[in-house]
Amino acid sequence: MTTQATLEAIPAHVPPELVGSFNFYTSEQMVPTPLGDPQAATSTLHSGPPVFYAPNNTRNGEGTWVVVRAEDQRKVLQDGITFSSNRRLFASALGEDWPLIPLEIDPPDHAKWRSLLNPLLSPKRVVALEPAVRERAEFLIEGIKSRGNECEIMNEFCFPFAVSIFLQFLGIGNENLAMFVDWAMDLLHGAPDKRTAAARRFIAYLDDLQAERRKKPTDDFMSFVTQAQVDGRGMTEQEVRAMSVLLLIGGLDTVAAALGFDFYYLAQNPDQQALLRAEPARLVLAAEELLRAYPTVTPTRKATVDVVLNGAPIKAGDLVACPSMTANRDPAEFNDPDSIILDREDNRHVAFAYGVHRCLGSHLARREIVIGLEEWLARIGPFRIKEGTTPITHGGFVFGVHDLVLTWD
Ligand code: HEM
Repeated sequence: MTTQATLEAIPAHVPPELVGSFNFYTSEQMVPTPLGDPQAATSTLHSGPPVFYAPNNTRNGEGTWVVVRAEDQRKVLQDGITFSSNRRLFASALGEDWPLIPLEIDPPDHAKWRSLLNPLLSPKRVVALEPAVRERAEFLIEGIKSRGNECEIMNEFCFPFAVSIFLQFLGIGNENLAMFVDWAMDLLHGAPDKRTAAARRFIAYLDDLQAERRKKPTDDFMSFVTQAQVDGRGMTEQEVRAMSVLLLIGGLDTVAAALGFDFYYLAQNPDQQALLRAEPARLVLAAEELLRAYPTVTPTRKATVDVVLNGAPIKAGDLVACPSMTANRDPAEFNDPDSIILDREDNRHVAFAYGVHRCLGSHLARREIVIGLEEWLARIGPFRIKEGTTPITHGGFVFGVHDLVLTWD
């Protein structure tokens, strides 16, 4: 329901008939919900207007336009001039003002940063990282097995696995994994003061590492960027910081949440779980279908000029949200979008977005997910949600699941 308070927060240029009652933070299924299905809840938006205004649709409580259909989202995300991603969200939370590189850099400048970083996460480079990814999955799963026949999989596997691969990428060992996981949990899910403190701790750590690698380079990510040339000059300390922070926040919650929704689905669908355990070659297609059905991110832009998008009068300065969940359940793009068909072919989903900012880490993320599931299914028997426990799902900027306690015989 649109209340008086939210009506007051709605800008005058938004026609009342385009004000929706749904938002991605406080609506039903978006708040923490026992045994919820937040992606399915967003699918119902396809029966409403293609673009609507959602009050209170960011973590800070700002309103945004919501672009429901895949075709309209492509128009927004492929036009970085009209729809800017230069929001400086991370820095502003610290009272600072610098863009995450390359996510908060608009075209044409974006291209030079992106072409510098592309080789670091190319399919070839990811193949080279695979043995380490597998080793870290094995290590965590064997640890869980040695502790018994149940675990809370987000804290014991999905998050540490994602954090551990970030450390591997940075060229750091696993010795301080638990400390990094604590920092990451505070950064991504803590109260505002904890978030800020964790962000500062990470930045200080990355700054120290940067200083070390400038003095004594090795063959890791930090050494590469500290020696790279952009516009015929070396990168500044601030630029290196802005890249490293983005790689950290880009690859943690997202990978952990994707794995979390996969385990949540498989725990509730023992037949599909048995099929994938018996025929692991099916995992590559299955992981794609689960990324389609349970995507987690909502790329958001700021309009730079007044523009009308499928009937919505967007004004310069308005925020425009493109939820991957609604694009991935768009009946104009996918047959039977609400059904999960693990061998769905030609699955052109947008869990990794469209346009120039399309996920730089998608090749690595895909391999992390498939290897994580492969190793889990090979080492752990048929698993289910532990009786008497209730997983909680939530919406927000990155959808997620927690309290997912699994047990097996
Ligand atoms: C399942 C896991 C992942 C998902 C669903 C995901 C999703 C996304 C999405 C939707 C975007 C576009 C954001 C926007 O346009 O506003 C993006 C960008 C990005 N992602 Fe990922 N991501 C994942 C994993 C990763 C990993 C593992 C890394 C790093 C190793 C990473 C690094 C990045 C970077 C650097 C960008 C910005 C690219 C640019 O601005 O050109 N992501 N990701």
